[in-house]
Amino acid sequence: KSVISKLWKGNVSSKMLNPRLQKAMKDYMNANKHHVYFRGKRSSKKLSREKLLCEMKNQLKVRTLDGTETPFSTLGWEKHVPKVSIDKLYPSGFRSCAVVTSAGAMLNSSLGKEIDSHEAVLRFNAAPLEGYQKDVGNKTTIRIINSQILANPNYRFNTSTLYKDVTLVAWDPAPYSVNLHKWYKNPDYNLFTPYVEYRRKHPAQPFYILHPKFIWQLWDLIQGNTLETIQPNPSSSGFIGILMMMSLCDEVHVYEYIPSLRQTDLCHYHERYYDAACTLGAYHPLLYEKLLVQRINKGTDIDVQKKGKVILPGFSAIKC
Ligand code: C5P
Repeated sequence: KSVISKLWKGNVSSKMLNPRLQKAMKDYMNANKHHVYFRGKRSSKKLSREKLLCEMKNQLKVRTLDGTETPFSTLGWEKHVPKVSIDKLYPSGFRSCAVVTSAGAMLNSSLGKEIDSHEAVLRFNAAPLEGYQKDVGNKTTIRIINSQILANPNYRFNTSTLYKDVTLVAWDPAPYSVNLHKWYKNPDYNLFTPYVEYRRKHPAQPFYILHPKFIWQLWDLIQGNTLETIQPNPSSSGFIGILMMMSLCDEVHVYEYIPSLRQTDLCHYHERYYDAACTLGAYHPLLYEKLLVQRINKGTDIDVQKKGKVILPGFSAIKC
């Protein structure tokens, strides 16, 4: 609990994590699976909230595969991807949006009505609604899915209703160098084949693959604004989704990313699996992502503690 209250105050270091998480973090640093090499500079002092927001707005560009770069162009991907690019999909944007994490603390939150009152709702991976509407709502506008959802048959990507009638945004970590050839040959999980197959079957459904440039822009932003060395792995789907919604919405309400008083080690609201890494990170630089999000929160401490809610301005609402 003390780590969580330190996170609320925006003042926490990986040194405060339990020894098992610290060891896991260290092992990921040493492995450096994605060959990350930070060329930017780390801010020696904390940027103000306003400057940090402007850095986000100026440095990040949500981008998806459009099929024009090799090897995708050679493979005919211009025909596979949606005709309308993601930045034109919602031409008038959204006024207010909800980002619903899958954290265990969503359970018994009674946030469902509030979540559904937003114009657009973003959810993650295989997070279910059925049986949990009171706590998580029943509206989904966009679902972000990692490559495991497409590649692992256990998730029933082709048949589950979770992935129907929503905009889908998939991602997989390419090497930090963003060599698309290497990525295509050796993704973490093969999302390319199931993507093309699904697009053929459901050509009218908006379904994008995030460009790995965007994934690593997010990483650079986190490391550039963190004094500690962060894990050399992509940010969590949660952080990807938050920044994506900041580019689509005037205001973004994020639920149970910065945990409420309900927080336990329960990983997901829909599974009886307990692991502190789900909230604080081991593979993903989750702790540092959360510290950044906490720094740009314009909501109240009460909202955080009772609802696990932070309120963030969309990029359209900030002047730089
Ligand atoms: O586990 P999964 O990635 O599907 O969860 C969606 C997102 O919700 C995570 O990427 C993370 O940002 C957030 N999350 C969290 N705390 C948890 C579980 C998930 O912050 N206990």
